[in-house]
Amino acid sequence: MCGIVGYIGDNKACPFLVTGLQRLEYRGYDSAGVATLQQSNGIRLTKVSGRVAELESAIDDRIGQGSLGIGHTRWATHGAANQVNAHPHSGGAGILSLAHNGVIENYESLKLELQNNGYQFVSETDSEVVAHLIADCLKEAAGDEIAPQDCVEAVQAAIARLRGTYGLVIIFRDFDDLLIAARCGSPLVIGVGKNEQFVASDTSPLVGFTDKIVYLADHQLALIRKDNIQVLHRDEGRVRPDIQTLSSETVDVNLEGYPHYMLKEIYEQPQSITNALRGRIDYDNATAKFGGLNLTTQQLRSVKRILLTGCGTSWHSALVGEYLMEELARIPVEVEYASELRYRNPPTDHETIVFGITQSGETADTLAALREMKRKGHHTLAICNVIGSSIAQEADGGVYLHAGPEVGVASTKAFTSQLTVLSMLALYFGRLHHLSFEAGSRIISEMEKLPELVEQTLGCHEQVREIATRYQESDNFLYLGRRFNFPTALEGALKLKEISYIHAEGYPAAEMKHGPIALVDENTPSVFIVPQGTVYEKVLSNLQEVKARGGPVIALTDHVDPQVTKLADDVIQIPQTQDFLQPIIASIPLQLLSYEIALLRGCDVDKPRNLAKSVTVE
Ligand code: F6R
Repeated sequence: MCGIVGYIGDNKACPFLVTGLQRLEYRGYDSAGVATLQQSNGIRLTKVSGRVAELESAIDDRIGQGSLGIGHTRWATHGAANQVNAHPHSGGAGILSLAHNGVIENYESLKLELQNNGYQFVSETDSEVVAHLIADCLKEAAGDEIAPQDCVEAVQAAIARLRGTYGLVIIFRDFDDLLIAARCGSPLVIGVGKNEQFVASDTSPLVGFTDKIVYLADHQLALIRKDNIQVLHRDEGRVRPDIQTLSSETVDVNLEGYPHYMLKEIYEQPQSITNALRGRIDYDNATAKFGGLNLTTQQLRSVKRILLTGCGTSWHSALVGEYLMEELARIPVEVEYASELRYRNPPTDHETIVFGITQSGETADTLAALREMKRKGHHTLAICNVIGSSIAQEADGGVYLHAGPEVGVASTKAFTSQLTVLSMLALYFGRLHHLSFEAGSRIISEMEKLPELVEQTLGCHEQVREIATRYQESDNFLYLGRRFNFPTALEGALKLKEISYIHAEGYPAAEMKHGPIALVDENTPSVFIVPQGTVYEKVLSNLQEVKARGGPVIALTDHVDPQVTKLADDVIQIPQTQDFLQPIIASIPLQLLSYEIALLRGCDVDKPRNLAKSVTVE
């Protein structure tokens, strides 16, 4: 995790560094720091334990003068979230300063060696090891008289010894026209300007500064000067930088009057679902169409099994995807946590394709799982939101969500867009096999209603706010649903726990009596997702079992019958749709409920404690 930025050019570095770090705070917000260089004064450094806003106030004139600089916003891995462990870190008594994103696995042995060579460590981080290691290699390479080329060679020699992942930006005390960036497993992108260059962990900091970008690939190192960039690959030597144009979808994000990004993103869902559907419906053939799967129709028809993988909310989408594919396409599906898949060795045949589901496209486990499956010869596809992200680049093909930037740490619109895309994929595969033209047409017309139905569902906000007021003090919640809405229950529980720090469990409603029902008491609300359909009566029975034990019940249903009204303490009515689309609708009140409870409890909705939006470490 962590966000890193760098600037070199004719202007002052800090305006970009600070703006960039603000935009990268979703990657971590435990501490922040910047280092700038002014040749006469050497490297100036300031760091704070806390947010980028505090860092901004701590930047004084001396730091603000530098036209070369780096910055970092941290999600702590090695060492507490305090000022000493904040980046940038200095190497070799201040000869260089670096910011690091990633994890160095062999840092302990390297640290011991460097300590034996006389290097003094001030922090507990693995990153400081890299700083001293480069300084040590520089001493070896250059002796007393250092040239810029020595710095490059020292970085190359140091990173050759690292095991793990890194995105690095490095500045050197003696060179005010040299910024080095290096990547292995942690994303880095260079923004190309006129007499200035920018570096960042992703493209969001670059918006408004430049629209010309170069993605660094693994094992590449960039030697950046204000008027040119050289890219060197570990094995291939010098490579030509591939300058691309920044996608117009990576727009500058602001709150547009909303108090939080999470709320804004909840309310954007009618539009984000419209975007996910746009251009993907083939009315003539009553199916969906995708431009980037990179397989022929014949190859797609011979797919015998689908493996869906992801983490967190994206894993919940995968679970819905399993129901969808099996129901609509009759293709066997398996769902795996990416963190498990990467170390499992599941028997798979060559007719299995693998989908990695990810909002950010940077989740380390999902990336590693896809790589492993690709290595085994499977066709890998990404269902991804962030254009040009590592996973989007690494997969053999895929489908973009086009949901627009999701800034709130709790995923909302990306989830419903993932479900929309998965529904279309299920329709597509279904039409390749047994689904009739009529059935395909019916599914399309239901899917096209989704934006309007989500808009209607948002109308429950006031009622949800009132319910939240009554349950804000609860320490435990249960979320219960069946079939398509079992994953919806998991997602509802995850939303509540991550932003309000309330313990919540999601279960298939009938599973409750095998254990979790013991948790039910008058202080433990149960949220039932109980729309009409094949298991409606069954879920009602489960609801009665909770009620009989004195547990408060909040029911989400598309059918207000007297039985539900009598049993439930609160009934939230949601619009009717086909069962396989219900998770999209039902998740809206659950997102609002967690948002309102978190607000009432005074939690930082957009930046919940201990979390980061993009989990780029294992
Ligand atoms: C929860 C949440 C996380 C992410 C997970 C995967 O609200 O946002 O659980 O879903 O970290 O992230 P992506 O989808 O970016 O791979």
